[in-house]
Amino acid sequence: MERNLCPVVAIANQKGGVGKTTSAINLAQALALQDLKILLVDLDPQGNATQGVGIPLESIQASISDLIRDRNFQVEGAIYKGDGLDLIPATPLLSRVEREMASMTNSELRLSQRLQPLRSQYSLIVVDTPPTFGPLMNSALNAANQIIVPVDSSYFALMGIKELMAEVEEIQRGTNPTLSVLGYLLTLADPTNIANQTWETLLSNFGSVVFETKIRRSVKLKEAPAFGKTIFHHAPDSVGAQDYLGLAHEVMARLKIGDITSLVSNSRPALAVVKGAVNE
Ligand SMILES: Nc1ncnc2c1ncn2[C@@H]1O[C@H](COP(=O)(O)OP(=O)(O)OP(=O)(O)O)[C@@H](O)[C@H]1O
Ligand SMILES: [Mg+2]
Repeated sequence: MERNLCPVVAIANQKGGVGKTTSAINLAQALALQDLKILLVDLDPQGNATQGVGIPLESIQASISDLIRDRNFQVEGAIYKGDGLDLIPATPLLSRVEREMASMTNSELRLSQRLQPLRSQYSLIVVDTPPTFGPLMNSALNAANQIIVPVDSSYFALMGIKELMAEVEEIQRGTNPTLSVLGYLLTLADPTNIANQTWETLLSNFGSVVFETKIRRSVKLKEAPAFGKTIFHHAPDSVGAQDYLGLAHEVMARLKIGDITSLVSNSRPALAVVKGAVNE
């Protein structure tokens, strides 16, 4: 990693509904609660990450669309500031921008270029990606140093991983040779045989690249976005908060960011931190 430039981590899996956005939001907030300065970038026209941290889509003046479309658009103008967690939002306009990208020069490198000056201002940049291969996904894979691959605990969970890795290899051969997988993350884990089988298969295929933390299926995690809150605001004592805090610790260790020696083992964040966050 270049000196003083923070890592960019994309949460990617073209399979829909595997917990990408849930992981992006709650990992970002968990890291912010560890005194790290985090930028969350929503790169999905669904805008789920944006809404999930409490920004209503109709209130948005500037978004990631402006940064991709207009090289002269001031990047700071699209950042929504929180307490430790900042956001560059997305709106449905981004799907039009994705179509326009076909006729823009170097369109799939623009995100990377636009994030570059921000990398000296944050401890980590987390990018939430859409559930489709295309210019936006490619932009995320070009901008990222590493990816986290959420894998849901279903029978078909592992089928798309090969295609995702083929895309990653293509990007490595082309524009981003050092792109790598930070970790595979089991999500929506429950006590079923299928979930156990998915876990075992992940371990046998990817070994220690699989995060030890499993994100358990929980009602609190499912309902939090409806309130525009991360799990740490909605239910700080829940298993969901515990799981994402555990993941944050593993991510910090793997990326060597933050103060690992003073990690808070308690899953309950200080209320003062919670109150000041972006969605309060
Ligand atoms: N651990 C969990 N427990 C319960 N529900 C969950 C959990 N993780 C995610 N969900 C729910 O599952 C659904 C899909 O999750 P999420 O939106 O995070 O997936 P995604 O991969 O981002 O989806 P998309 O591909 O559409 O972007 C959402 O309703 C979310 O609230
Ligand atoms: Mg999503």
